[in-house]
Amino acid sequence: MTTSDSGRLAGKTALITGAGAGIGQAVAERFAREGARVIIADRDATAAQSVAEVIGDAARAVVCDVSDEATVAAAFDHVATAGWAPNVVVANAGVQLFGQDAKAADLDLNVWRRTIDINLTGTFLTVKHAVRTMLEHDGGSIILTGSPTGLNGEGADFTAYSASKAGIHGLGRTVAAAYARVGIRVNTVVPAYTETGLVTTITTDPEARAAIIGRIPMGRAGAPDDVSGVMVFLASDDSAFATGALFAVDGGMTTL
Ligand SMILES: NC(=O)c1ccc[n+]([C@@H]2O[C@H](COP(=O)([O-])OP(=O)(O)OC[C@H]3O[C@@H](n4cnc5c(N)ncnc54)[C@H](O)[C@@H]3O)[C@@H](O)[C@H]2O)c1
Repeated sequence: MTTSDSGRLAGKTALITGAGAGIGQAVAERFAREGARVIIADRDATAAQSVAEVIGDAARAVVCDVSDEATVAAAFDHVATAGWAPNVVVANAGVQLFGQDAKAADLDLNVWRRTIDINLTGTFLTVKHAVRTMLEHDGGSIILTGSPTGLNGEGADFTAYSASKAGIHGLGRTVAAAYARVGIRVNTVVPAYTETGLVTTITTDPEARAAIIGRIPMGRAGAPDDVSGVMVFLASDDSAFATGALFAVDGGMTTL
């Protein structure tokens, strides 16, 4: 993989959770092209390794399940010991349990718990260990992954997912305020429907796909690189005065 001309992320080391596929993979590849070293953190070891191999020397793979604090702590310790302490962390790993998540009256407690454990608790654990690392290494930028479903009624059939994303939006603001004076920034990107493996259920159903695209003013689905472009900005020093903010990457969906 070649480095781009801009090198906007030269000198950065970025750990990206859920970077074995989808948006996280696109972010890792783009950050590397912009000059960063990237740590591909995923619970799927094979996927993480294969993304790291495609990127080459600027990448390392670590296995962690973001809902399990011991593995998250071990991943941060491992990379710091190797001289790869991250000054950019993207808490991107998440799940949406299609066919299980539901309206509140029909939602099984185990589905609620699993979604909250991975999406919200997993984001908290990633943030907790990112902050600890950054406090020891001159600060940095943390980027969370929200959703329009956490802002409005967009995810009426996805109670657990929507609540988990609303929690992430609040977590981002709180942590941003807590660490603003010590050089740690926290911002949340809010992507609309972005065609990845997460949303195959929608992408392979022409009616469902047309319905969701009909609610996006730009009239198209997002691509993973629509999200990675905004994340390059938030990872870079160009966004030095931005913290505690939500950045919609949604073709205008949240204007409606
Ligand atoms: N695709 C969309 O339309 C969309 C829209 C809004 C927000 N998002 C959010 O973007 C993020 C990435 O979504 P995506 O579409 O790229 O998903 P994806 O399913 O394509 O990829 C998710 C990756 O996260 C990993 N992962 C899942 N659970 C994990 C865990 N517990 N620990 C570590 N890794 C784990 C998976 O192995 C996979 O590599 C998620 O937080 C999702 O909620 C996606």
